[in-house]
Amino acid sequence: MAQRLVRALRSVFDVRVWAHLFRLVHFYGYSHVLPRARVTMGQGVRMAPNVSIRNGERITIGAGAHIGERCYLWAGDDLGQIDIGEKALFGPEVFITASNYMIKPGTPVMDQPKIEKDVRIGRDVWLGARTVVLAGVTVGDGCIIAAGAVITRSVPPNSIVAGVPARVIGMRTEPEEAPTPVGVSGTVSGPAASPEPGREQPA
Ligand SMILES: CC(C)(COP(=O)(O)OP(=O)(O)OC[C@H]1O[C@@H](n2cnc3c(N)ncnc32)[C@H](O)[C@@H]1OP(=O)(O)O)[C@@H](O)C(=O)NCCC(=O)NCCS
Repeated sequence: MAQRLVRALRSVFDVRVWAHLFRLVHFYGYSHVLPRARVTMGQGVRMAPNVSIRNGERITIGAGAHIGERCYLWAGDDLGQIDIGEKALFGPEVFITASNYMIKPGTPVMDQPKIEKDVRIGRDVWLGARTVVLAGVTVGDGCIIAAGAVITRSVPPNSIVAGVPARVIGMRTEPEEAPTPVGVSGTVSGPAASPEPGREQPA
């Protein structure tokens, strides 16, 4: 017990511990708080406080989207945009990058220029936990991305996608047509979408 107390006091009075705390605060400032203020967000966006953001001025998030904990939204330093559609749902630790280093031999990768390409995530897309989306990819509206997928190429709307590299493994079915409701004035008010569309196998 006494030894634990001594260890605790040593930590509390060690200036390196406080210096580290300062570094953490600074890190949270430049990687989470300040770039977040530059993101363009629609109404009702929910984003975990530990989402890591780069170049927030090149990120747009549609209304009602939900960005889970420890996600990474890294837009390009100069050009690469990240555009996230309405009601997109990100599980934890999704990683999106809008740039790649060049990989010519003979020069360290970190000294080579980056190639930036826009990333677009459609509306009503569900990205499962630890999905990785690489630069230049478009994920069509309504896609379901399985946990752990690495998306290297664009995928069409309503696909169910899984694996490394990610492949289309199925399609969401069209929402079933509900009986057409008739408005109080007697006019047709349009079909209601089923809340949970099912899935079908690819042709
Ligand atoms: C993609 C997902 C929605 C599919 O669910 P489902 O419709 O119940 O699919 P099934 O479990 O029947 O699996 C269908 C096939 O896909 C495969 N599959 C499912 N999830 C997979 C994954 N993450 N990676 C690779 N393959 C996967 C299954 O092995 C199965 O293959 P098989 O037909 O050869 O056996 C689900 O697997 C998933 O990844 N959900 C994400 C969960 C998550 O990240 N939650 C975080 C909170 S938001």
